Amino acid sequence: MADPPEGPVRRLLVRDLAQLATPAGTGAPLRGGALAEVEVVEDAYVLVGGETIERVGRMRDLAPIAGDVEEVDGRGLSAIPGLVDCHTHPAFAGDRANEFALRAAGATYEELLAAGGGILSTTRATRAAGAEVLTAIVARHRDAMLEHGTTTFEGKSGYGLDRDTELAQLEAVRSAGGIPTWLGAHAVPSEHADADAYVDWAVDEVLPHAAKVAVAADVFVERGTFDAEQARRYLLACRAAGLALRLHGDQLSEIGAVPLAVELGARSVDHLEATGRGGIAALAASNVVGVLLPIAALYLARPMPPARELVDAGAAIALATDFNPGSAFCESLPVVCTLACTQLGLSPEAALIACTVNAAHVVGFDDRGRLARGQRADLVLLAAPDWRHLAYHLAGDVVHTVIQAGRVVVSRA
Ligand code: NIG
Ligand code: FE
Repeated sequence: MADPPEGPVRRLLVRDLAQLATPAGTGAPLRGGALAEVEVVEDAYVLVGGETIERVGRMRDLAPIAGDVEEVDGRGLSAIPGLVDCHTHPAFAGDRANEFALRAAGATYEELLAAGGGILSTTRATRAAGAEVLTAIVARHRDAMLEHGTTTFEGKSGYGLDRDTELAQLEAVRSAGGIPTWLGAHAVPSEHADADAYVDWAVDEVLPHAAKVAVAADVFVERGTFDAEQARRYLLACRAAGLALRLHGDQLSEIGAVPLAVELGARSVDHLEATGRGGIAALAASNVVGVLLPIAALYLARPMPPARELVDAGAAIALATDFNPGSAFCESLPVVCTLACTQLGLSPEAALIACTVNAAHVVGFDDRGRLARGQRADLVLLAAPDWRHLAYHLAGDVVHTVIQAGRVVVSRA
């Protein structure tokens, strides 16, 4: 076969890996017993051609490779698929260190938002920053995520709440290589009379533009922000504009986000710290993925979401950081995996599946999340011979090498 015009396919061989671990099976999202099924290969290799995985196997079965091959020494390391962070808010300016201190002294997240702080204080800083600064900020956070093994990230808007800043955030996420989600209904900015008036305005004035950049829409369903009726109106308009649907639901109170997500066929409902038995059963009977964000629960000292109950009931789950300046200032999916195993009652296997193949499904990709032939060549090499150090080493320096679409982008060799 003739070479493509750019020349021969670049080959990369990751060899002599102590271990390789990948979600078993095919398809997504995985639920129930499938959340325990991780395939582990000892003394393994991964052969990459261009941006894609060509072969995965045991060193002793490695057939000779024709042509030039770049090699990565995997001795003492374990390989997992590149991590997928399916829920982040990276397009913000300023910080909330002051509110962090106020919360440490006893103020609550809801009180700060009701007093014009919280999301609204980040909105003021983000509006003032301008598109160029936002682009640089998102790229910086993307680099921090990569250092922690995240090779695909979703990034939300929601700190502009005016047309130009919302669009600048979406563009900033896209230009950093992220998957943009329009979080047009995150809070009600002061220039609008109330949540109903704001939803009308956002749908009329921002949605037609946002739908050209974003792949999904999201809404914060909560007391003091948007109720289920307002969320339905917003999401129906977004669905009609071709966007996939996501919801922030049951974070602080259970006011109808899960039934709405199920009714509208949303991709996911995220948070679920306050979800009760009815919500668990409804999610389990649906195709909506429950995205669990244990850093947000930890950071706000809230109860953890009912992860074990969701899994036992048969719901599909994913895990994400929720990286944002207010409730989860942390870019690390390995930390999320540690919390999943220590606070949510999940196994290391379920944690890995939840932030790889299931998270990829939430973002809309079926070409990543597994180490298997034909998948995009996104790999994380961990600095340990047992892949479970991903969760076991709390906030450790566990990421050794990151390969994204066949290229080494982080290396501590
Ligand atoms: O997912 N809960 C709503 N939105 C974000 C927090 C945003 C912020 O506090 O800036 C979350 O936790
Ligand atoms: Fe969030």
